[in-house]
Amino acid sequence: MNAITEQINLSTDLDMSNYWMPFTANRQFKAAPRLLKSAKGMYYTTVDNRQIIDGCAGLWCVNAGHGRTEIIEAVHKQMTEMDFAPSFQMAHPIAFEAATRVAEVMPAGLDRIFFSNSGSEAVDTALKIALAYHRARGEGQRTRLIGRERGYNGVGFGGISVGGIMPNRKAFSGSLLTNVDHLPHTFNLEQAAFSHGQPQWGAHLADELERLVTLHDASTIAAVIVEPVSGSTGVLVPPQGYLQRLREICTKHGILLIFDEVITGFGRLGKATASEYFGVTPDLLTMAKAINNAAIPMSAVAASRHVHDAIVNSGAPNAIELFHGYTYSAHPAAAAACIATQNIYRDEGLFERANKLSVKFESAIHALRGEPYVKDIRNLGLMGAVELTSRDGAPGARAYDAFLKCFEKGVMVRFTGDILAFSPPLIVSEAQIDEIFAIVKSTLHEIS
Ligand SMILES: Cc1ncc(COP(=O)(O)O)c(C=O)c1O
Repeated sequence: MNAITEQINLSTDLDMSNYWMPFTANRQFKAAPRLLKSAKGMYYTTVDNRQIIDGCAGLWCVNAGHGRTEIIEAVHKQMTEMDFAPSFQMAHPIAFEAATRVAEVMPAGLDRIFFSNSGSEAVDTALKIALAYHRARGEGQRTRLIGRERGYNGVGFGGISVGGIMPNRKAFSGSLLTNVDHLPHTFNLEQAAFSHGQPQWGAHLADELERLVTLHDASTIAAVIVEPVSGSTGVLVPPQGYLQRLREICTKHGILLIFDEVITGFGRLGKATASEYFGVTPDLLTMAKAINNAAIPMSAVAASRHVHDAIVNSGAPNAIELFHGYTYSAHPAAAAACIATQNIYRDEGLFERANKLSVKFESAIHALRGEPYVKDIRNLGLMGAVELTSRDGAPGARAYDAFLKCFEKGVMVRFTGDILAFSPPLIVSEAQIDEIFAIVKSTLHEIS
């Protein structure tokens, strides 16, 4: 046990009343908690000393595996040297170095990096940059933002407004951004069930953007934001040609295209970005999570030069160009973790490794076809989902039971609705992929 958990007698002393847990059924969880105490490589250890294989890289974020010594040492060294430096009108060298390293793996031209601390902040930053860009160019009437149904773009007011997940919006519906519209999502069970990789059907759904342009006029639209592959709503893989078409329509109408790559960034699809994987370059790209292996909160927006330059060159030379930023933007410890993480990705060739492993991952996940309750299976790179039929009158209950049973049997998966999602660290071995899906298979036979 580590120093902090040693001080608490976990079975009897732990007071669970104060911590209000995020995106959690608090009462249900606290009645039967699942507590992790340490992590190394592909495995978590629970407080009762069980080994749990990590089938989802923590929360789609620990791409280099847990407990990486290089990152720990870099953070320790940085904290010893300088724990914090203000980021407004001041800076420290490793902030610039971290930006350079991130820019190196971004698509060509997307090399102006604005740091923030979470995916939600990156999304709100990107939306604000889009509005500021049009204003700087004398098109301040372009204020409309277009998101997509079933999109998850974090939980800021901007993010939930462009996002397309009803429960995330419902309670706050009176205060969402008003100048927002949504594209339809791209998932269609009838057309695309059990697709391996990108479905063939559905590129035409991008043309819905033309419909919105006809409705609102392009001169009112600032940006379109989509996850290249929707992660949180169950790995919705874009149809072949869809993202290309979205790019063409945006370019035609002067609308900025934002890719929310909070999940897909840093190797999830076997390339540094989904943009590189699909060969489609957005104007703005959000990232977080695996940017520094989730060791310290950090996120960023990569802006293309034309967007950056339009804003930064627009005012007087001594004026602040963008009234936006966070106390912890480019925090020294997060920046140190970022550089160390980028070194690991490069030195261990983890993106290429993920690319090679995706073949094994695809065959292993699709081998679950025909198992009890399996209604659909989808995958791309090292992300995949198994959708289950819902229990009558209890949507989500079956996947929750599967999640619990998997955890009991030693694998951590994600679930959303009745979908099980998988995104192992990129260091996973072929044998561990088999181990994960063998447990899922036996679980499906044990739940009702
Ligand atoms: C695509 C996408 N955008 C934004 C976010 C929000 O990130 P965070 O939870 O760090 O705010 C997430 C989180 O999973 C995400 O998947």
